[in-house]
Amino acid sequence: SFPVFTTIADYRRWRADAFFSKKSVGFVPTMGALHEGHLSLVRRSLAQNDYTVVSIFVNPAQFAPHEDLGTYPRTLESDLQSLEKEEFIEDHSEKRRVSALFLPGVAEMYPGGITQDVEAQKGTFVEVKGYGHQMEGSMRPTFFRGVATVVTKLFNVVQPSNAYFGQKDIQQALLLKRMCHDLLLAHPESQNLHIVPTARDPLTSLALSSRNAYLSPDELLVAPILITILRAAETLWKAGRTKGECIAQAVEVFTATKGEWGGELKLNYVHMNNSRTFDELPDGAVLETGGGSDAAREGVTIISGAVWVGKTRLIDNILAGGG
Ligand code: PAJ
Repeated sequence: SFPVFTTIADYRRWRADAFFSKKSVGFVPTMGALHEGHLSLVRRSLAQNDYTVVSIFVNPAQFAPHEDLGTYPRTLESDLQSLEKEEFIEDHSEKRRVSALFLPGVAEMYPGGITQDVEAQKGTFVEVKGYGHQMEGSMRPTFFRGVATVVTKLFNVVQPSNAYFGQKDIQQALLLKRMCHDLLLAHPESQNLHIVPTARDPLTSLALSSRNAYLSPDELLVAPILITILRAAETLWKAGRTKGECIAQAVEVFTATKGEWGGELKLNYVHMNNSRTFDELPDGAVLETGGGSDAAREGVTIISGAVWVGKTRLIDNILAGGG
């Protein structure tokens, strides 16, 4: 079993030993309520690093005052069990397991205190300008400031060689890549912030999420509507239709399902944005093929959406070709 560090000082002693013995440290930051999506990041880290550190910290700064900070699922016992079970075996080498859990309290991470009321906050916050107001940021205007701030703090403490984030939260992962670049937290060419594909329910394709725990059995049945409408948009996009037509199709499929289900279901947004600039594509944009290396440099299209299933807000996205 691995050590659980609740203080920064204790963790730093452990990290100093890892530096001294020249071990690479992979890092998987989480807010707990661990599921297969989180564990897929842990497995990637185990495969690519000598040591793997997981953190569990429900970060108040990324929840708006009206959001679910108080009820966010906290399942430490089963999280510990899930992490204990993970092992990676490489030919001719030792079994690798999770090396440590960083489990700080709020006072440890915010020694100057933290309020969720942005206007009343004092002190240092990290803002990635130009990347935090589209897509998720259009609905949660202070969210990415909270994320960028806590991840900077976590990186300063954990000192990872590699860090692992999920495509499930694509804007978060890309924004943090940009932050690392801007704050010189990593060599510009290095790929040490890794984005891992979204883990889904094998039967329904529903993206795994800690917030799925809020859903009733009925709501769980209708929740895959989100990936269904994103895929409907993707299909048209790949067939050469305009962005406007893709979005209209997604909305239409949503409306039809909502009618059939009859329960409380709301489309929050569906967007198509460029992955490099985060700009919303113009309505007339179409998939550009044959761009070769140009297309790679110009980014791909993020088809993203959010829905309210009852009182629960779910997000998902697909990466499609350039626009
Ligand atoms: P949390 O929602 O717990 O997610 C932790 C990491 O797991 C994130 O990188 C997220 O993208 C990834 N993840 C979640 N569901 C996934 C899925 N179905 N497949 C693949 N990866 C998945 O994201 C956060 O916490 C916080 O914002 C954090 C980065 C920890 C900062 O507080």
